[in-house]
Amino acid sequence: MPARVKPPENPVEIHHDGARVVAERGEPLAHALIAADRLPVARSPKLHRPRGPYCLRGGCDGCLARVDGEPNVMTCLRPARGGEKIETQNVLGTRGVDALRAADFLFPRGIDHHRLFAGIRGVSGIVQSFARRVAGLGTLPDATLLPTSATRRDVDVLVIGGGAAGLAALAELPEGAVLVDDGTSPGGRQRAIAPERARELVSKATGRGGELYAETTAIALYREPEQGDGRLHAVALGPASATLFVARAVIVASGRHAPVVAFGENDLPGVYAAGAALALWRGGIALGARLALIGEGAVEEALCRAVAGHAEVIRLREVDVVRAVGRAKVTGIVLRDGGRERRERVDAIVVGGPGSPAMELAVQAGATVEFDALSGYRLHADEDGRLGPALFGTGSLVGSDTPTASGAVTGVRVRRELALGP
Ligand code: FES
Repeated sequence: MPARVKPPENPVEIHHDGARVVAERGEPLAHALIAADRLPVARSPKLHRPRGPYCLRGGCDGCLARVDGEPNVMTCLRPARGGEKIETQNVLGTRGVDALRAADFLFPRGIDHHRLFAGIRGVSGIVQSFARRVAGLGTLPDATLLPTSATRRDVDVLVIGGGAAGLAALAELPEGAVLVDDGTSPGGRQRAIAPERARELVSKATGRGGELYAETTAIALYREPEQGDGRLHAVALGPASATLFVARAVIVASGRHAPVVAFGENDLPGVYAAGAALALWRGGIALGARLALIGEGAVEEALCRAVAGHAEVIRLREVDVVRAVGRAKVTGIVLRDGGRERRERVDAIVVGGPGSPAMELAVQAGATVEFDALSGYRLHADEDGRLGPALFGTGSLVGSDTPTASGAVTGVRVRRELALGP
């Protein structure tokens, strides 16, 4: 089971469904919940299947909880400051035993809510009203959130994403460029793979005067056609307020989504993306003494090196995995073994692989997407990463294996194109 490998250096106390949990100040709340083995964290909105943090990068729904009366907080993106009250949402019972899970057993093939009892006089209305009560995510906040004023900032270049590529791009841009990143601190996966290198990149990125905003999520990227000046508008939500950035050019360095591998019960808490498992380890949290690891790549190899001597890692091919085992969290894995199946006890299942590009923002701004059966989805970019007028992609988002070099090249190109000085 998960546990801290060293005690927190700067401990704070948070509360999860009334239980006291110790967190390291500044670490994401989800990390603290995992370290305290508080899985599951959430329930799926329809079938009430147990959910746990999977990606730890704001890309799944496994860590959603109510925090201090605010529903649907991604606890993997909310730093622990001490005193937070975290509550499980949408359960009838407890997060571990939710009576509404009956939906999962009663409808093993899923619920087609468009057709279920639809049009049957009297029944349809009752079913709809019941579904409205039990489905969905969260309930209204405890208090009405007062509107906060958004500010507008005109910038030459906005970089979205603070991983290796985004930081390297910012390092090539002069004062006035801004980078936003939704993580609790910049560095992205680089922070997990090579923490020292990530620190160097952060210091280099801000060395020329570039500004860096963590905990800030770009939620929209678009043009205002009637303004006709080609500038891109980005709405970014920070911890306290929103900013509308209006930029002459935008570099999107949003990386790739956590990989998903198809096997039975792959949504059980205790299944983690490889990048998430490595980030936890760097944060002093071990997932257990025995891990199953599917897939290979730089993150997966770094994870194996990091946990060597602490955990046994069973390397698996995707085709050999049948299903995860466990009621509310992973306790084992079933594998194909010749013509038979065999069960292994594991504390966690770690899923590796390239994932798909996190291209939603780029597409909002007009980038186009291609698909081929071998490499999956990819953004249509020229050799320098141009995705459209004033819009650039860089790093793993556009398929680069060398995000730092890719980010630097993009930064230089944008600097020259906008004539922003040497
Ligand atoms: S969104 Fe938080 S773990 Fe995936």
